[in-house]
Amino acid sequence: MSTSVEQILASYDQGAPLSRAETIPSAWYTDPRIAELERFNVFSRSWQLVARTEQVQTAGHFISTVVAGEPVVVVRGNDGVLRAFYNVCRHHAAAVVTQPCGHASLLHCPYHGWNYGLDGSLKGMPEFEGVENFDRAKNGLVPIRVETWECFVFVNLDEHAPSLLDFLGCLVARVAPLKISRLHYFDRRTYNIDCNWKVFVDNYLDGGYHVPHLHKGLNSVLDYKQYTIENEDRFCLQSSPMIASTEDAATGATRKGDRAWYFWQHPNLMINCYEGYMDTNLVIPVDADHCTVIFDFYFADTSERAREYNENSVSVGNRVQEEDLGICEDVQRGLKSRAYRAGRLSVRREAGEQLFHRLLAADLRHKPQA
Ligand code: FES
Ligand SMILES: [Fe+2]
Repeated sequence: MSTSVEQILASYDQGAPLSRAETIPSAWYTDPRIAELERFNVFSRSWQLVARTEQVQTAGHFISTVVAGEPVVVVRGNDGVLRAFYNVCRHHAAAVVTQPCGHASLLHCPYHGWNYGLDGSLKGMPEFEGVENFDRAKNGLVPIRVETWECFVFVNLDEHAPSLLDFLGCLVARVAPLKISRLHYFDRRTYNIDCNWKVFVDNYLDGGYHVPHLHKGLNSVLDYKQYTIENEDRFCLQSSPMIASTEDAATGATRKGDRAWYFWQHPNLMINCYEGYMDTNLVIPVDADHCTVIFDFYFADTSERAREYNENSVSVGNRVQEEDLGICEDVQRGLKSRAYRAGRLSVRREAGEQLFHRLLAADLRHKPQA
């Protein structure tokens, strides 16, 4: 008899102290029913990063993307208000906006030419005379909640969710001194990985456990013994003092400052900072066995003068990512083995992973109000 979703969820003990805790069981990483439940209980109820504020700074500028499988458009109105909508035409459901970003004075559906204003209102429908009981005012694009923090735009598909600032909680005060909004966007790298999205998050949250083994270059600039792990409400901050590297010139030249700051906000956002540098990692589930991770790189100086330095810095980030990618895919294969059910956690290193597993368990066990 196959195991029910309830049985799978019940097989994790979120109350165990770290010294006795197990990881979430392997079925959570491999069962498509868990992936589908996450789409509703995790990704449709949390604030999701969708854009940079500078992409939608002026009237008519838009971005389009997909959140929890839902097409989404974010657009700045002529009145200066930032709005988000389901990017689904009210006529026959085509995507109204088909470019990932751009500028428009009207949102024009490419299928039969319906037009929507930047405020989502339905403005015009060709050849629709004679249609009865059709209320144009009730056929605008369906709105979604949108809010901003620092240089980021977030949406939330849950109209009853707490505000973005409540969701981010203590993260806001911890990130503020780093002044990340002063940095400038430089480049993006997208990785398609053959692993469950949680394998990537676990790998990020192991408190540097894997760094000396897997990332020799990165390890040469971190004071590994002093690496700290702090859990807060919905985020974990991993931080390490930096040391001057003589072993790896490229890493030493591009990972500078007194400390490295690695923030993870539940469920799928990482913000990594060094002096004059930030990259964000957004982990997007595709299905139980696949995810996409988007890295955006920001620098203090993005002038032509700094281009070569910035490109070298992105290459260093890319190398670390390649090292992680192979191991994540190996782990996904291992999680499917009959030999593995769940693992234990290092008390010194893996508190962040336990926070993630507990928050995830709470999300998955949440019953929507009828
Ligand atoms: S689906 Fe958009 S106009 Fe028909
Ligand atoms: Fe890593």
